[in-house]
Amino acid sequence: MYKICVIEGDGIGKEVIPAAITVLKATGLEFDFNYAEAGDEVFEKTGVALPEKTIEAAKNADAVLFGAAGETAADVIVKLRKILDTYANVRPVKSYNGINCLKTGIDYVIVRENTEGLYAGIEAEIADGITTATRVITRSASEKIFKFAFEMAKNRKEEGKSGKVTCAHKANVLKITDGLFKRTFYDVSKGYNLPAEDFYVDAMNMYIISRPETFDVVVTSNLFGDILSDGAAGMVGGLGMAPSGNVGDKYGLFEPIHGSAPDIAGKQIANPTATILAAVMMLRFLNENKIAEMVEKALEEVLELKLTTPDLGGTLSTSQMAEEVSKRLKN
Ligand code: NAI
Ligand code: MG
Repeated sequence: MYKICVIEGDGIGKEVIPAAITVLKATGLEFDFNYAEAGDEVFEKTGVALPEKTIEAAKNADAVLFGAAGETAADVIVKLRKILDTYANVRPVKSYNGINCLKTGIDYVIVRENTEGLYAGIEAEIADGITTATRVITRSASEKIFKFAFEMAKNRKEEGKSGKVTCAHKANVLKITDGLFKRTFYDVSKGYNLPAEDFYVDAMNMYIISRPETFDVVVTSNLFGDILSDGAAGMVGGLGMAPSGNVGDKYGLFEPIHGSAPDIAGKQIANPTATILAAVMMLRFLNENKIAEMVEKALEEVLELKLTTPDLGGTLSTSQMAEEVSKRLKN
C-alpha cells in the first residue's frame, strides 16, 4: 500500500490529475490517496496558497502527485520543492510514435538544479526603479546535481544509451557563478568513465532543436533548465507531453511541467499524457518498474492509435483518453 499525497491545484490540474489517478487505479496496485489543497483557489479562500496541512501531508506520503498551480505557482510548487529538498528536477524528453514531433529518435533527460540559481528567491528593489535578483550557485548544490546527472547517465548507459552528460551554462558572461558551475561539472565528471561535454546555454537552445537526438543527459541550473525544458517539450508534441519528477534523498514529487492552462481549463480537452507519464516516473521512484513499464506501453499504444485529446489530433476528452489507457492495463 503506497501513501500518495495528491495535490490537484488549479485549472487543468483538476482534470489531468483525476485522469492519472484513473490509470494508477487500473494498475492493480494498492494506493492510499490523500488529497491536499494548494494554489490560487485555496489562496482566495484562506489567504494561504500552500497550507501547513498540505506540507505535512506531502512529508508523510511515500510520494506526491501534483497537478498545477496558477498565479501562486512560485508560492506553491517552487516552495514545496525547497521544503522537500528535492534538489533534482528530472524532465524526460521523448518522441513517441504517432505524435507530430519536430524530429524523431529523441530520448534524453534534462536534469535541472532545483534549489538555487536565479530562482533562489532573493529579489530586491534597491532604489526607486532599480531592482535586482541574486543568482546563487554553490559548489555543494552543484556537486549534488552533477553526481545525480552522472549516476543517471551511468544507469542509462547500462540500458544501451550513450551515457553522455552535457552541461549547459553561461560561464563566458556569468564568470563567477557559472565559472564555479562549469568547473564543478568537470571535477565531478572525473569520477565517472562517461562522455562529458559543455555548451553555452544559448547555443544549447539551438542544439535541442537542431540535433536533440544526440543528447542523453543534459544538466543545467534552475532558470536555464526551466526555459530549455519547455522548448524541448515543444519538439515532442507540446507541454501536454512533458512530465517531471522532483527528487531528493528522501522525497519525490511528480508533476506535468505545464501550468494550470486557464485558456483550456474546464473543457476536458487538456492532454493527460504529461501527468500519466509523471505517474509512471512516480511508479519507478516507488520501485514498481514492471508496472511503470506496463503503463508506459499502454499509453504508447493509445498515442499510436490517436485515441487522444484534440491537441494531438484526436477527438477524445481528458478522461476518455485516461480510460483508453486504463482499459489496456486491465486486459
Ligand atoms: P501553461 O503551461 O499553463 O500553458 C501554456 C500553453 O500550453 C497554453 O496554451 C495551454 O493551453 C497549453 N497547455 C498546457 N498544458 C496543456 C495540456 N496538458 N494539454 C494541452 N495544452 C496544454 O502556462 P501559462 O499559460 O504560461 O501559465 C498559466 C498559469 O500556470 C499561470 O498562472 C502560471 O503561473 C501557472 N504555471 C504553473 C506551473 C506549475 O504549477 N508547475 C508551471 C507553469 C505555469
Ligand atoms: Mg516552467
